[in-house]
Amino acid sequence: MKWIVEQSTEAFNKRSARAIAELIQKKPDSRISFATGSTTKGIYEELVALHQQEALDFSRIEAFVLDEYQGASQTNPASCLARLHAQLFGKVNIDPSRIHSFDSLAEDLHQVAADYERNIAVLGGIDLQILGLGANGHIGFNEPGTPFHAITRVVDVGEETIDARAEMFGARELVPRLGVSLGIKTIMQSGKIYLFANGKHKTSMVEQALLGPITPDIPASVLQLHPELTVIIDQEAAGSLSIPR
Ligand code: GLP
Repeated sequence: MKWIVEQSTEAFNKRSARAIAELIQKKPDSRISFATGSTTKGIYEELVALHQQEALDFSRIEAFVLDEYQGASQTNPASCLARLHAQLFGKVNIDPSRIHSFDSLAEDLHQVAADYERNIAVLGGIDLQILGLGANGHIGFNEPGTPFHAITRVVDVGEETIDARAEMFGARELVPRLGVSLGIKTIMQSGKIYLFANGKHKTSMVEQALLGPITPDIPASVLQLHPELTVIIDQEAAGSLSIPR
């Protein structure tokens, strides 16, 4: 596991975007799975800046949406796809035919999940998985208790996630109770994983997930087993933890 700790949020966003950009430059047809959330928003802004200022080329990447709420289509601004589109996909030269997202309006969401998992494999697997760290240690929609062998599937959206997204959906009752998410196994099969966390409120979870025991109670703790994990955090998230450097 490689750690990068940046002093400010701005430096964190820039360094994180640079890390993603370096991978795209090295392998322009990278298959990348994108998380949404408050953590990645600033990082995606910096990626857009790299596209505008340094002509970072997204035209050959294959983009996968990490997770989605049931019934939230691209026209719903709270959907993961709409947010990714607003923050990144719509602002860079990504080929729309290379954006892979969940048909969250489909009647058979289980089939959608199975097809998504298969499609990832058919395309050759994910080169880079971009992850945020849930307040309870979730990754994607893989909530505490998820077995490590879980693949892409329909999931219950966790209570903490419902709380966290109430404002975005307009009210707690409006947050979908079901979602679809890449599984832990699917995530662990990625060539590389970048886990991003910023802010004081993440310190305790950074400690539990990355410096504590590996347990399904803290889904992100499984990432310790990944040979190509890079953790990029800001000083606030690092707090007074003794981060191995
Ligand atoms: C959400 C999403 C994840 C995200 C995580 C962290 O619920 N399902 O994809 O990475 O929680 O969110 P944030 O960055 O807002 O803390």
